[in-house]
Amino acid sequence: MTGTPTTGGGSITITLDGTNRKVTVPLLPGSIGPSVFDIRKLYNDLGVFTYDPGYGGTAACDSKITYIDGDIGVLLHRGYPIEQLAEKSTFLEVAHLLLNGNLPNAREKAEFEAGVLRHTMVHEQLRRFFDGFRRDAHPMAVMCGVVGAMSAFYHDSLDINDPEHRRISAFRLIAKVPTIAAMAYKYSIGQPFVYPRNDLGYAENFLYMMNAVPAEPYHVNPVLARAMDRIFILHADHEQNASTSTVRLAGSTGANPFACIAAGIASLWGPAHGGANEAVLKMLAEIGHVDNVKPFLETVKDKNNHARLMGFGHRVYKNYDPRAKIMQQSCHEVLRELGIKDDPMLDLAMEMEKIALSDPYFVERKLYPNVDFYSGIILKAMGFPTSMFTVLFAVARTVGWISQWKEMIEDPSQRIGRPRQVYTGPTQRDYVPLDQR
Ligand code: SDX
Repeated sequence: MTGTPTTGGGSITITLDGTNRKVTVPLLPGSIGPSVFDIRKLYNDLGVFTYDPGYGGTAACDSKITYIDGDIGVLLHRGYPIEQLAEKSTFLEVAHLLLNGNLPNAREKAEFEAGVLRHTMVHEQLRRFFDGFRRDAHPMAVMCGVVGAMSAFYHDSLDINDPEHRRISAFRLIAKVPTIAAMAYKYSIGQPFVYPRNDLGYAENFLYMMNAVPAEPYHVNPVLARAMDRIFILHADHEQNASTSTVRLAGSTGANPFACIAAGIASLWGPAHGGANEAVLKMLAEIGHVDNVKPFLETVKDKNNHARLMGFGHRVYKNYDPRAKIMQQSCHEVLRELGIKDDPMLDLAMEMEKIALSDPYFVERKLYPNVDFYSGIILKAMGFPTSMFTVLFAVARTVGWISQWKEMIEDPSQRIGRPRQVYTGPTQRDYVPLDQR
């Protein structure tokens, strides 16, 4: 069984040296993967906090949505392996799975898809927000602003304690974020917005809104629509990553779901996170030729350079990111479909992967390609500008964010998130008048 449970149950007793204060910390088991020490009483009983900057060893919640085993490169969504979902499922079916816990039957699938498709249009006045942006604004800046502005339009679904409001908000976000993303792109190139078409599939509709123009008919290539749908599946959710944790923390205050997703978009934008796919393409373009790979890797290994091999490494995966392998396969399919015999960017990326994975620096640090290493190459071949890569990541991750938000809101034990600190600043001192400083 993948990720056999560690010894669940039991406890440890912690005694504070030099005192008679001690606490028994229970060990809570997961269904698979590491158990957790429940330290919620630690401060009350022992007067100390735990210390874990970046939360790399801290379980912030109890979740049933996604399981990752970084050591063996496993990713499960509600128990289903990502490899099977990418091959056999569709993005909206995965969305239903993440949100509701199970793959839908035929009736549930039809209802869910209809529910999403009925919400694809945005309020006509939302279009005016775009005029306030420069045409060359980064589309992620537009996404942060316009998705956050959705809070100003959908007052009838802001009561987070009302299950019906939560359901409609989820539909609205899953359905409208692609429309807003396509609008951000059209605005950046000075073309008119293209309304969604509810006779098209989810990924097909997105590619239609991105590429069609009112002046002539546009037919979406079904192979590209399938590739887009699979890319969305691969980016849908990923446990408690930085942007998902941002959404959960924002949501824990009772903020409305549109504001929480806007916070997730802002967090995803960073190059260490969802912005990496854009950074990979820039890195490959700067390297330019396979002859420059080894010198580049030398600069990455030189700590004085602070350079990173973008698209490599992961906080959790210390083996191949299973999504990267699927992405690489899709890369070849898309390039073949587009009749691109040899894409120099792909050749360079594959050569770089081969060289890096034979270099002790990367092997010792267990740095493997992650989901972002190949995604940019496919997206570039599909005609997306580099600046839209993280936007596509946000379109897909909206499903994971809203699923994790829903799980948190519906968790009776959830409370407002409030991390503590170890204070190392000045001890108390008196104010010094200006003439004595
Ligand atoms: C995503 O969390 C998620 O699940 C995220 C994500 C999702 O789906 O939500 O999977 C999406 O964000 C994927 C990651 C995309 N980011 C990048 O590709 C940017 C490049 N990668 C890194 O910046 C880095 O690997 C991180 C940020 C992803 C992880 O950083 P960590 O866990 O802080 O890594 P670390 O510092 O513990 O690394 C250990 C060592 C260090 O060297 P030493 O100090 O031990 O000598 O590895 C080195 C690091 O300097 N290292 C790298 C490196 N990543 C880590 N060295 C060169 N290139 C890299 N990419």
